[in-house]
Amino acid sequence: MAKTLAVAADLWRGFQRGRDIVSAVQGCSFRIDAGETIAIVGPSGCGKTTLLNLIAGLDRPSSGQIEWPGLGPPDTLRPERIGVVFQSSNLMPALTALENVELPILLCNGADAEARALAMLAAFGVENLAGKLPEQLSGGQAERIAVARAVSTNPQLIVADEPTGQLDQAGAALLVDRLLAWGRQSGSAIVIATHDERVAAKMSRVWRMRHGKFENIGTRSKCTSPG
Ligand SMILES: Nc1ncnc2c1ncn2[C@@H]1O[C@H](COP(=O)(O)OP(=O)(O)OP(=O)(O)O)[C@@H](O)[C@H]1O
Ligand SMILES: [Mg+2]
Repeated sequence: MAKTLAVAADLWRGFQRGRDIVSAVQGCSFRIDAGETIAIVGPSGCGKTTLLNLIAGLDRPSSGQIEWPGLGPPDTLRPERIGVVFQSSNLMPALTALENVELPILLCNGADAEARALAMLAAFGVENLAGKLPEQLSGGQAERIAVARAVSTNPQLIVADEPTGQLDQAGAALLVDRLLAWGRQSGSAIVIATHDERVAAKMSRVWRMRHGKFENIGTRSKCTSPG
């Protein structure tokens, strides 16, 4: 049986807006096992980024529970066990593409950081951009480097927020195919928020969200237990 990486029960996340509370995530329960590939889809504002931040341990729920039984204590999750691709790439502006990918490896005290970072850039077809600063990159190039950075520590779970939003159709397909190939080889789970149904169709499950709730959390292709 596959290792359970994250499990959540009745997650809620509310944000104060003036006198009101915006409930961005409302009562979501789920499980993410090793090797699963999951797309989170739904209209803008439905709560995808909020949910991904909870899954990555970057944010805490207002109520409900999330645990990472297969990944260890919450303070050791990143960057070693969970790799994150932010909606806006979020590369460090003063560092080159290569240094951006090297950084999480160095934070984990990894050996051969530069060689490993170069290999990651090559795996995503952007080794020619190694010496560029983020301001010299197109949005799509930055997205590919952000994905290479997220996988550079060999995490067991990748959480990627619209990682192909600035790529054309062919570029998006190629990046997701490369990420899925990396996931198959490492046995890691991949969760992607996307507006692109072609990207979602490549994943083994699709979670559909609306107004912070799951409309449907797909069926596991290899497992039929709920959640
Ligand atoms: N830090 C915050 N403070 C206040 N409201 C927030 C905050 N983050 C998100 N929200 C609100 O929560 C809701 C869900 O936002 P979220 O960013 O999760 O949506 P999304 O599905 O990722 O949208 P998009 O597809 O545009 O990226 C929205 O109504 C948003 O305005
Ligand atoms: Mg979002």
